[in-house]
Amino acid sequence: MMPQKAISVVGSIHMDFIIFTERFPKPGETITGKQFEMQPGGKGANQAVAAARLGKEVYMIGRVGDDYIGNLLIKNLEENKVNTLHVFETPQVHSGVALITVDSEGENTIVVAPGADNHLLPKDIDRAEKSFKKSEILLIQYEIPIETIQYAVKKAKEYSLKVIVNPAFVRKLPEGFYKYVDILTPNRIEAFEITGEKNIIDAGRKLLKMGVKTVVITLGAEGALVLHEKGHLKIPAIKVKPVDTTGAGDAFNGALAVAILEEKDIEEAVKFASAAAALKVTKPGAQKGLPYREELENFLENIKL
Ligand code: RIB
Repeated sequence: MMPQKAISVVGSIHMDFIIFTERFPKPGETITGKQFEMQPGGKGANQAVAAARLGKEVYMIGRVGDDYIGNLLIKNLEENKVNTLHVFETPQVHSGVALITVDSEGENTIVVAPGADNHLLPKDIDRAEKSFKKSEILLIQYEIPIETIQYAVKKAKEYSLKVIVNPAFVRKLPEGFYKYVDILTPNRIEAFEITGEKNIIDAGRKLLKMGVKTVVITLGAEGALVLHEKGHLKIPAIKVKPVDTTGAGDAFNGALAVAILEEKDIEEAVKFASAAAALKVTKPGAQKGLPYREELENFLENIKL
């Protein structure tokens, strides 16, 4: 039997400090929230856990501080069956943290203090060679240094990995970077920011011109738009009552990587990913609310896309 191929996730690892509140405070205002929770998060770790909960072998490549929170974050990844061989501890730096507020509509505000995320350097990618060798897909986001993103993506291509890039939080990377990207998954704002365009079709087309093979623009309640050399198609969203939208993009990207690994075509893969994101949105917490395989399969059976 062929060994199962894995997913390598290079990215951030955070502890999220979340206050659920009726509404967001105005600048200078103090309000009382409804509930507080401390939960593991970070776009990288969330996407790794999303893929692991859907049944895949996942390697996390990232950094935590040499502190109490860092230990909790590694333990949590292990409990979620994510391989942490290449999660490195960084002395004298705090682990990445995020302060999150979630209002009664399920919308959020997030402020990140990256700490150890900013110490994830190209040499760490070299140290993680073993993960890359066992993987078929690299999944990466933008919460780590730009030089590391560029290096990891080039390295992944040397190992013939498929590269899925979730450009969040959005930053400018050199145009030449995009030729290494098999699937780019910006939301509307990120697509506009990267391309300078003002409508999604133009933005998607520009990303293709920049060298991306397939562009998947996530549109929240409006679904997703897929563009590739043969044209474009819109995939409608699954309607749910939002409780907390934090981590919806992470659920989407983790599930998309799983579907691509399972060789689903892009339309099926985006439907699978959209269902994972819809399920996530019905639950509080970025990572805590990520669905497990059985839950997602049941959900998919009960909806019509
Ligand atoms: O995408 C949600 C994540 O963004 C949170 O878990 C937070 O840590 C930030 O990285």
